[in-house]
Amino acid sequence: MKLISLVLLALFLSTSSAQSPAAAPAPTPSSPPTDIIRILNKAGGFTTLIRLLKTTQVANQINSQLLTSSGGITFFAPTDNAFSSLKPGFLNSLNDQQKNELVQFHILPTLVSLSNFDTLSNPVRTQAGADPDRLALNVTGSGNQVNMTTGVVNTTVGGTVYTDSQLAVYQVDKVLLPRDFFEAKTPAPAPAPASAKTKASKKKAAEGPASPADDSAAMSVKQMWGAIVGATVVGLWL
Ligand SMILES: *[C@@H]1O[C@H](CO)[C@@H](O)[C@H](O)[C@H]1NC(C)=O
Ligand SMILES: *[C@@H]1O[C@H](CO)[C@@H](O)[C@H](O)[C@H]1NC(C)=O
Ligand SMILES: *[C@@H]1O[C@H](CO)[C@@H](O)[C@H](O)[C@H]1NC(C)=O
Repeated sequence: MKLISLVLLALFLSTSSAQSPAAAPAPTPSSPPTDIIRILNKAGGFTTLIRLLKTTQVANQINSQLLTSSGGITFFAPTDNAFSSLKPGFLNSLNDQQKNELVQFHILPTLVSLSNFDTLSNPVRTQAGADPDRLALNVTGSGNQVNMTTGVVNTTVGGTVYTDSQLAVYQVDKVLLPRDFFEAKTPAPAPAPASAKTKASKKKAAEGPASPADDSAAMSVKQMWGAIVGATVVGLWL
């Protein structure tokens, strides 16, 4: 009798101790959040792009989009060679707003895997805005060959720099220049006061990244619910 209870006790102890690691939910490894600068630094050959991402603050924007966005981000990363084959002084000739537009033009507010470029409809929507002419970016993929054109520049995806479940970074060997930089602005119907024009362009800039962020807010609620339901199920099961 005593032996049986000892055996039962031993069994109980062994099962309960075996269960305890499962009972305590494994702490989520506190991996550092994705940092586009770190990724490009590690890859090497993106010095100019890194500088541009920093001066325009788009690096911070990408990193915070990655924290909140559900759809992910695709980033076309021009190499140092791509920048050095631009007309000398071209980059310096751009004002801050144009530099920002240039970087946003290299970002798609969704994660697209290399084999999925053929599913996009052209022109694809970049974070520079939706103008189907001045900000057109057409991407055609077939197999692992991906061709791109802006109407000013043709290039191909030169390889994958980085990819995870949220972010894909592809190397491009030319800077994707939007037509917007080369076509004269259509004259405004009535001469608008300078302040109104600045306001309009500021508004446009503010609208760009807003929608992916909104989606992501909705998604993180969904994810939170997923976590709560998951935790409840685990709790009930235990
Ligand atoms: C990409 O461009 C090359 C050269 O112009 C062409 O041979 C190839 O068929 C194109 N591929 C796609 C998927 O458009
Ligand atoms: C991009 O594709 C659209 C739709 O096929 C086409 O109308 C447009 O002319 C293309 N633009 C460029 C720059 O190739
Ligand atoms: C880009 O490719 C298209 C179609 O292949 C061609 O018509 C156009 O001239 C090219 N543009 C440049 C800037 O190379």
